[in-house]
Amino acid sequence: MEVSLLTLITSSRFQLLLAVCTLLALPQLIFASTTRYYNFDIRRQNVTRLCHTRSIPTVNGQFPGPKIVVREGDRVIVKVTNNILNNVTLHWHGVRQLQSGWSDGPAYVTQCPIQTGQSYAYNFTIVGQRGTLFWHAHISWMRYSLYGPIIILPKIGLPYPFPKPYKEVPIIFGEWFNVDPEAVIAQALRTGGSPNVSDAYIINGLPGPLYNCSSNDTFKLKVKPGKTYLLRMINAALNDELFFSIANHTLTIVDVDGVYVKPFNSNVILITPGQTTNVLLRTKPTAPNAFFLMAARPYATGLGTFDNTTTSAILEYRPKPSKYYNITFPLFKPTLPVLNDTVFAANFSSNLRSLANRQYPANVPQNVDKRFFFTVGLGTSPCPHNRTCQGPNGTKFAATVNNISWALPDTAILQAHFYGRSNGIYATDFPVQPPFPFNYTGTPPNNTLVSNGTKVVVVPFNTSVELVMQDTSVLGAESHPLHLHGFNFFVVGQGFGNYDTVNDPARFNLVDPVERNTVGVPDGGWVAIRFFADNPGVWLMHCHLDVHTSWGLRMAWVVNDGPLPNQKLPPPPSDLPEC
Ligand code: C2O
Repeated sequence: MEVSLLTLITSSRFQLLLAVCTLLALPQLIFASTTRYYNFDIRRQNVTRLCHTRSIPTVNGQFPGPKIVVREGDRVIVKVTNNILNNVTLHWHGVRQLQSGWSDGPAYVTQCPIQTGQSYAYNFTIVGQRGTLFWHAHISWMRYSLYGPIIILPKIGLPYPFPKPYKEVPIIFGEWFNVDPEAVIAQALRTGGSPNVSDAYIINGLPGPLYNCSSNDTFKLKVKPGKTYLLRMINAALNDELFFSIANHTLTIVDVDGVYVKPFNSNVILITPGQTTNVLLRTKPTAPNAFFLMAARPYATGLGTFDNTTTSAILEYRPKPSKYYNITFPLFKPTLPVLNDTVFAANFSSNLRSLANRQYPANVPQNVDKRFFFTVGLGTSPCPHNRTCQGPNGTKFAATVNNISWALPDTAILQAHFYGRSNGIYATDFPVQPPFPFNYTGTPPNNTLVSNGTKVVVVPFNTSVELVMQDTSVLGAESHPLHLHGFNFFVVGQGFGNYDTVNDPARFNLVDPVERNTVGVPDGGWVAIRFFADNPGVWLMHCHLDVHTSWGLRMAWVVNDGPLPNQKLPPPPSDLPEC
């Protein structure tokens, strides 16, 4: 799983040739950016975990999917061909997609799905980002098997702002279901109840020794003593935030969501679905006669059931001293926080700070053009006539932003926006504040009914936006990892209880707040973010717990074109799928 320069260079023979020619001709040009081509063939593949064999959608037969390895500044062209019966789209999670909104990927938002037998070439440039991101399917629950790392190396000659790692290793978390997750969510949406939970968590596709039938399906990280390893961690799980720890080793967090942070040490990290982080692992100076378990299990705060199992992998020192070959070494196990440790979650996220130095400034909006206050949480929809439903009190579960449960349109919003034909597809009156105020984190109102709609917020180009997201206790307070497409934002404040418009802004960090694309709205609390709406297009924002997304916890921002040519959304590519 190591990322080597070789992968980068040989990702296409044509590039190698080009690189060699360029090198001979004009040495200074080796600093110029290149285009990296990938072919993603979506096809089914039999995969066996926990003694269950299932045919799952994959890219090129690989599970987890292939790595995309690029440098900051590169253009990436991924030709995706759909050879399965399901509709598919892919999303390049965290990639800014500056002026390339047609390549963002959420189905019925920026594109119609790629249908069986069709191809679509995603085409985007990595600007001002470096670190780890990931790609995943963005339709229904297809992300359960369609995901893989995006590794963005710094520009040639630019070092990391931390000790150069000896090796880099992706660590990607996912969820394994013994049954078809598409059937699981389809049934849940029919009955209105909670979907069945996964059977295991997986690390690089493998559940590890704590599960049945899985001792051979264990990821092993083989390390040398006295070295620094960069773990590129990704949470691609569908529905669960995860705690992660390695026995007897400290981790140094150096980057989140593709942005460097002030390094800080922790024995445990918290990573929500949609978040990525780079951490340094410094190995012991001499090889200990022991194995070390690396384990992950959920951070879960809602009232519903969840998969409470633990996935693990093994940290193994090499070379093992030969005289010990026949001895079984002890296996040390890490201590993970309790499953609902919200105090840990709050402390961990408040430790994250931008570098905010001359080379990596934090361009935090100091003034705000538009303020928004959104509640996020659960609710209910009525059960259709002549049916019985399995949600709360015979209703159907729903989830909302400002009490609106998002209804997916049957055509892509970005196209409708581009051609000025929003009529009957979406409305532009998404409320800037909750329709009726209540004690959001106190006793919930009796009426939990939600409304449904496809409503967006429209802002002019380059608006400085402040958004406060407030968790509600309707059907139970819960942490919600909110992801914004098309932007990074600064997390300027967070707290428990109800947001206080008078006193809380005074405590905002406008100096070195963390910059990211997915933030946990605290369980029973609020988070404030700021960003410049400097990217024309239609940008989805949603909870990255897929069950909540499916229940409607999503909305979209429309950012209008600016006056200059480089502030406009270009026309759609000719191979854009039609609905
Ligand atoms: Cu990682 Cu809209 O998603």
